[in-house]
Amino acid sequence: MKNRRHFIKTGLAATFGVAVAAPLLGQNHKSLTKLDFPGLIYTRENQGMWKNKAESHLPQIKIDGGKITLTTNHGMSETHYIVRHTLVDSNGKVIGTKTFYPTDEPVSTYTLPEGYKGTLYATSFCNKHDFWVNEFKV
Ligand SMILES: [Fe+2]
Repeated sequence: MKNRRHFIKTGLAATFGVAVAAPLLGQNHKSLTKLDFPGLIYTRENQGMWKNKAESHLPQIKIDGGKITLTTNHGMSETHYIVRHTLVDSNGKVIGTKTFYPTDEPVSTYTLPEGYKGTLYATSFCNKHDFWVNEFKV
């Protein structure tokens, strides 16, 4: 039962992330941080009802050549944890995702397509504090 609940939660989070972020990114290539979707997508600039939660929910980005490591500085417990990371390119193509269990550390690593230059979007989904996006360039 517990695993089924977890599967439903993570499945919903994944569906939400892809369903919301991908069409927005592919829509018109505007900078996501300049889009205004209060209550739907949270950024450093738009923390909405989760004001002061950016530091613990925005994925932090480490760039090492063609490798990108995302870390969310958020505690992990059975009732409150980071469910998923996603890395998406400027065309809305998902480069990679990682789903977490409460016992995991919210850290994920991805390999960029050879020679990729441009904007990327790192997402982090908290089961209590919703969907956060951090935009960056390589
Ligand atoms: Fe949270």
